[in-house]
Amino acid sequence: MKEIKCIGILTSGGDAPGMNAAVRAVTRSAIFNGFLAKGIYRGYEGLINNEIQDLTTQSVSNIIQTGGTILKTARSAAFMTVEGRKKAHDNMVNAGIDALVIIGGNGSLAGARVFAEEYNVPCVGLPGTIDNDLYGTDSTIGYDTALNTIVECVDKIRDTATSHDRIFFVEVMGRDAGFLAQNSAIASGAEAAIIPEDQTDIDQLEYFIGRGFRKTKNSSIVIVSESKKDGGALHYAERVRKEYPQYDVRVTILGHLQRGGRPSAYDRILASRLGTASIDALIEGQRNVMVGIQNDEIVYVPFTKAIKRDKPINKNLIKVLDELSI
Ligand code: F6P
Repeated sequence: MKEIKCIGILTSGGDAPGMNAAVRAVTRSAIFNGFLAKGIYRGYEGLINNEIQDLTTQSVSNIIQTGGTILKTARSAAFMTVEGRKKAHDNMVNAGIDALVIIGGNGSLAGARVFAEEYNVPCVGLPGTIDNDLYGTDSTIGYDTALNTIVECVDKIRDTATSHDRIFFVEVMGRDAGFLAQNSAIASGAEAAIIPEDQTDIDQLEYFIGRGFRKTKNSSIVIVSESKKDGGALHYAERVRKEYPQYDVRVTILGHLQRGGRPSAYDRILASRLGTASIDALIEGQRNVMVGIQNDEIVYVPFTKAIKRDKPINKNLIKVLDELSI
């Protein structure tokens, strides 16, 4: 195995608050341990287009508190092709980069897995996504901040919902995972959450209305996970309008504001811990792993496991919301 002298860092996929804290941690920890650090801009797209610059300790000053990513990010279709990955590898070799730290979500780590296997490049991933959908880590960088952002918004929606006696369907992100929806529903005192993990034979809307979810309250908030399959919040609102015309219904789709903002203290600390651990992992000779956190301990999770899209939601959370929303 070739000795590692220079580490390339990139952020990829949807940005998440705390990515900057992670870039800072990886850069500083790399330099602290005697490596050179290079930033790759716009994720894999930047590797293909040779957008690479040296990173110093100063380059990552004053960013721990900022949202977004100073390295920019992209979803790269070119990196999914053999030709794209060849270009990326050529540029990496020419820049003298021996190993990569990839900060991103499911798709980004899936890309890293293929690249690492194809070119035998040491790759370590950090879970950076608001969706919290990577297996093997209790939390992903950005999830806590997004959750707090949602709760702040829902608190505001509650004011107007109560004033007008309305039902609000609030759609949140999460791609195929319901972590943001379920936990924001609990934290904001919402009446229900409609999440992909709870798609049983029972119609979730029928269930909530059927148990009389509006009898004792003058407003109701249902948090709905975004869904390409069933149409999300708009779909449920439409159904209520048709099937229960007595209710006054509104929809709020929170959208990309969930991805912005200053990272929470939790996300900054998580990013800092995982970032330094990514350099430890490379020093220890770890390859093709995501660095995660489980019960407050750093763990290495093989890419193949992390990206399987089968991270379970704790079913007790469903029970908690059910019991407390009567
Ligand atoms: O993966 C993060 C995420 O924000 C998902 O929750 C959402 O489905 C998706 O990215 C949106 O992607 P884009 O910003 O490319 O529209």
